[in-house]
Amino acid sequence: MSATRAFLKTKHEWPLAPATSAFLSSDVFGHVIEGEVVASASGETMALFDPATGLEFARCAAGGPEDVDRAVRSARQAFEDGRWRNLDPMEKERRLRRLSALLGQTRDLLSDLDVIDGGVVQAYSQFIVQFGIDAVDYFAGWPTKLTGHMPASPVDVVVQQVRTPIGVVCVISPWNGPSAAPAGVVPALAAGNCVILKPAEQTPLTAIVVAKLCLEAGIPPGVVNVVQGVGEVVGAALVAHPGVDAISFTGSGDTGRRIQAAAAPTLKRLSMELGGKSPQIIFDDADLEAAAATVAGAVWGHSGQVCTAGSRVLVQRGIHDELVATMVEQSKGIKIGSGFKRDTQMGPLISQEQLDRVSRYVGLGRAEGANVVLGGERHGTNGYFHQPTIFTGVDNRMTIAREEIFGPVMSVIPFDTEEEAIAIANDTEYGLAAGVWTRDLSRGHRASQALRAGTVWINTYQRVYASVPYGGVKQSGYGKSLGAASIDAFTELKSVWLKIR
Ligand code: NAI
Ligand code: MG
Repeated sequence: MSATRAFLKTKHEWPLAPATSAFLSSDVFGHVIEGEVVASASGETMALFDPATGLEFARCAAGGPEDVDRAVRSARQAFEDGRWRNLDPMEKERRLRRLSALLGQTRDLLSDLDVIDGGVVQAYSQFIVQFGIDAVDYFAGWPTKLTGHMPASPVDVVVQQVRTPIGVVCVISPWNGPSAAPAGVVPALAAGNCVILKPAEQTPLTAIVVAKLCLEAGIPPGVVNVVQGVGEVVGAALVAHPGVDAISFTGSGDTGRRIQAAAAPTLKRLSMELGGKSPQIIFDDADLEAAAATVAGAVWGHSGQVCTAGSRVLVQRGIHDELVATMVEQSKGIKIGSGFKRDTQMGPLISQEQLDRVSRYVGLGRAEGANVVLGGERHGTNGYFHQPTIFTGVDNRMTIAREEIFGPVMSVIPFDTEEEAIAIANDTEYGLAAGVWTRDLSRGHRASQALRAGTVWINTYQRVYASVPYGGVKQSGYGKSLGAASIDAFTELKSVWLKIR
C-alpha cells in the first residue's frame, strides 16, 4: 500500500469503514468487463488525488480504445443473447431489489469513497448514496410495469405498439456525486438495456463497487461494464463506437456539444444533463429566515459543484440589504476542511484545475465591478479549498452572472418588480432550475409559468425524488432522468402489424 493510502487510513477523525480499508488495499482499481476487474490492455494507469490534501493516494487503470472495444463487445454480446433483457420481468425486479439491499449494506464504503476521491463532505455523500438507493428502489418496480398500447388501426389488422430496450447504453458521469451512479444506470437496466458506465477520471472508485454489487445481485456479467479513463480518450471512443446505441451524459456544456457532434456519424440517441446558472428569486413578501439559509445552502452545497447550484440570487430591493447581511452572518463561520473532519461544513473543490477556475471567475467579478462582501480567496495552502464568496452589485451581463463557475460563488442581483425579476432570470443560455421565494401563491404560480427551466422550486430548493423527472431546457440539455420519463428515454417504440386473414 502506498504511503498516501496509509495516510488516508489514519488522518481522519473517525474510523474508515472496514470495507473501505479493505477496498483501498486492492492492487488494481480497474475496469469492470464481463464480470472481471481488469487492468488496461496497455497497462497504463492514472493518478488519483485526495482533494483535501492534493496528495496522490492511488492509481487507477487509464483506458484506451482497446479497453473500450472490449467493454463494448462484451455489452453487445450480453444484449444480443438476451441474458438480461429476456429474463422474466419479475426476476429482473428481484435482482434489482437485491442490488438496493446490497447498496444499503455498502453505504459506508460508498460514502467514504466519495469523501476520498470526490472531496465530498460526509453529510452530503450520505445523501448522495441514499439518492442512488432510492432510485434503485423506484426503478426496481418498473420491469413488470412496462406496458404497450394498441393504437387505432384499420379493421383488417391488429397493431401493437411495444416498448423495446435501445441496446447498449453508455452512461458518462461527472465527478460531483459519484455514488449517484446507480441512479444513472438502473433506469436503463430496468428498461432491459446493457450499460457501460464511464465514471469521471477524478472519481473512478465507486463505479467499481457498484458494478461488483450488480454482479452479486445476480445481474449477469457483461450487462454492466465499467471503463475507466480520461474523457477525451475513453469517453470519446465510446461516443464514436458503432456498438454503442445511446449516450446518457451528465457534465459540462462544452463536452456535451462535443459529444453531440461526435455522435452524429452513428446517429446515437443522446440525453444531455448539462450545467446551469440557476436563479433564486426572493420577493419582499418571502419568509426571509427560511429563505436565507436555503438560498445560501443552495450555493455552498458541495462547494458549489452541483449542477442546480442557485448561483444567481435575485433579491427585491426593499429586502436586499437585510437578506445579504443575514446570509453573510450565517455563512462567515462555515467550517472548511476535509470531509473526514467532524465539524466540516464545506469541503474542497475537486482539483487544482477547478480551484484555478473559481479563482479566475472571482478575479473577473472584481474586475467587472462587483463587490465582494464575503470570502473571495482560496482557503489554506494544502488541498483545493475556496472560501464561500458573495458578490453584491452584480449586473446580469457580468461574466460571473453568465457562466457556470461550479464553485462557492454567489452573485446577488437586485431587482424592483416581478416582471424585471422574471426577465433577468430568463436572460441566460441555461435552463436547468429556478427557485422562487414568496408568500403570494398567485405570484409563485405566475413565476413558475414564466420561468424557462426544467425544474421550478417554490419556497424550497434542490428537492429531488426518484419519481420526479429532472433535467434542463435550453443549453442545460434535453432528455429527462428519473421518473417514468427515464423509462421513455431508455426505450424505443416498436409497431407490430398483424394482418387478420
Ligand atoms: P466534463 O463535462 O468534461 O466531464 C464530464 C464527463 O465527461 C467525465 O466523465 C469526462 O471524462 C467525460 N468527457 C470529457 N470529455 C469527453 C469527450 N470528449 N467525450 C466523451 N466524454 C468526455 O467536465 P470536466 O472537464 O470534469 O469539468 C469542466 C467544467 O465543467 C467544470 O469546471 C464545471 O464547471 C463543469 N461541470 C459541470 C457539471 C454539471 O453537472 N453541470 C459536471 C462536471 C463539470
Ligand atoms: Mg472536460
